[in-house]
Amino acid sequence: MAEQNLATVAVTGATGALGSRIAARLADRGASQLLVARDPSRLPDLPGAQHRGPATYEDTAAMRTALAGASTLVLISSHPTGKRLEEHASAVQAGMEVGIDRVLYVSLIGAGPTATYRNARDHWLTEQFLDLSGVRHTTFRSGFYASTPAALADEEFVIRGPGGSGPESGRVAFVTHDDIAAAITNVALGDSTDHDGAVLDVTGPEALTLDEAVPRIATATGRPYRYEAETLEEAFARRWRLGISGEQIEAWISWYQAIAGGELSAVTDVVPRLTGSPATPITESGWWPSPKTAW
Ligand SMILES: NC(=O)c1ccc[n+]([C@@H]2O[C@H](COP(=O)([O-])OP(=O)(O)OC[C@H]3O[C@@H](n4cnc5c(N)ncnc54)[C@H](OP(=O)(O)O)[C@@H]3O)[C@@H](O)[C@H]2O)c1
Repeated sequence: MAEQNLATVAVTGATGALGSRIAARLADRGASQLLVARDPSRLPDLPGAQHRGPATYEDTAAMRTALAGASTLVLISSHPTGKRLEEHASAVQAGMEVGIDRVLYVSLIGAGPTATYRNARDHWLTEQFLDLSGVRHTTFRSGFYASTPAALADEEFVIRGPGGSGPESGRVAFVTHDDIAAAITNVALGDSTDHDGAVLDVTGPEALTLDEAVPRIATATGRPYRYEAETLEEAFARRWRLGISGEQIEAWISWYQAIAGGELSAVTDVVPRLTGSPATPITESGWWPSPKTAW
């Protein structure tokens, strides 16, 4: 397919799971890109890609140097630090100062100031900042990753949390990193203004309860993953005994609660519409992190 716009794309977070997939797809399509990292020695070597950095989002001067020469910025959200708004604002500000004229921001589904999932709340702040900034932008609210349940399992492959149980419990449309990367890559390489200002919920193809999703992961992997619903009190007590911080306890309990409450059950057409292919079912995710590796 002939690309309409081969202007340079800067990809942050390119040492990570999502950014590296976007970078690989951009390289496959012959794009010119700047890969930005805190530690550039960990960046992949790709045709058409320059390594930039070291640059952390919060270091505006380093980000200015790293982003110089790009017109589109793919901004992968940072890890939850309590300062994500400031970090993202710094990166966007730096980009605007050196000529970035479009930002594609990776937000999280359900982003909102009162979102049940704790880590979804500050994404909304970044979305507000982008609206105020005046820069062209598109927000991709990624669904919950298909890889996360495997990473949350313990050594016995048990995934425990207050995510509800039974056919009436809440559902979640898990989405693969590759589908999100494909959708973002296609928008990055197009010159259409159709997605300017859009907030796109990027979901998988079906909404499943955890009772349904986890056995599918077991079938796909041949490993004995199973889900055990916990009460809120059980969820708190077990994590506390494991020595997990209050902030992390709240984050993980709220991940399950958001599912149980049905906040993630929407299935959208964003992946098929932007990529031309159906969204990937969880059974075909193909990436199953080791137990106990959730961030
Ligand atoms: N939708 C979901 O279910 C879900 C699940 C988990 C996370 N997330 C969010 O989605 C983002 C991308 O997911 P992922 O799977 O690609 O995560 P990942 O593999 O942890 O990658 C995150 C990337 O962001 C970079 N980064 C983080 N903080 C930064 C900062 N302050 N300045 C510069 N770079 C920074 C990391 O750099 P280093 O390599 O130097 O650490 C890494 O390259 C995560 O960062 C998180 O905000 C979403």
